[in-house]
Amino acid sequence: MMDTVKVLIPFYSRNGSTEALAKAIAEGAQSEGAEVTLRRCREVVSREVMTKAEGWIENADRMNTIYEAPTPTDAETADAIIFGSPTRFGAMSSELKAYIDSLGGLWFQGKLVGKVGSAFTSTSSVHGGNESTVISMYNPMAHLGLIIVPLGYADPSLFKAGTPYGASTVSGQENNPPTPDDIEVARFQGKRVAQVAHALKKVGETATKQ
Ligand SMILES: Cc1cc2nc3c(=O)[nH]c(=O)nc-3n(C[C@H](O)[C@H](O)[C@H](O)COP(=O)(O)O)c2cc1C
Repeated sequence: MMDTVKVLIPFYSRNGSTEALAKAIAEGAQSEGAEVTLRRCREVVSREVMTKAEGWIENADRMNTIYEAPTPTDAETADAIIFGSPTRFGAMSSELKAYIDSLGGLWFQGKLVGKVGSAFTSTSSVHGGNESTVISMYNPMAHLGLIIVPLGYADPSLFKAGTPYGASTVSGQENNPPTPDDIEVARFQGKRVAQVAHALKKVGETATKQ
């Protein structure tokens, strides 16, 4: 019997919208029978710097009690990794990048080659860089040897929200949570990644039996 597919979702979120997408992606993957690990990347600045943005410390403390920080071992033991980050000037956040940089040792040993990779994001404005942020996460995925899974328009939800590159939401000036349409795309992403990881695992097991 084939092992359960393991999906790791390492994300960063300051105000909660990327977190909400991460939870919906987790639900989608779980609906396909995957075992999901949600992890929140930690801040790379001091608490003194965090006091300068309203609610940052409170939000970080809330999320950090729920989610452990991602580790390289989490990535090594996963079959699929779905990275999530709010946009920072059209690219991923330093906090997620710091985690990805910690995977250098695994990169050197080729340990992540052939695992499934996918990405999602949150922006404040409509054309504020959703797609470029997801693609900024594709770059290290290529170096790590992950098999990148985009969404295309493979589900009707993509005609209403998200991007063909990965799920997204626009939080606006008031930090609005994702819409039901955004959530539908995120659930689809979780399902799709779990399905692809499952199919790849099956091929791998058949190959080793021959
Ligand atoms: C330093 C910085 C840079 C940002 N750059 C952008 C940007 O380029 N485009 C955009 O739409 N929003 C930008 N934002 C806003 C956040 O990406 C946006 O509020 C996001 O939805 C927050 O996600 P979260 O709720 O998961 O923290 C930026 C925020 C910060 C703090």
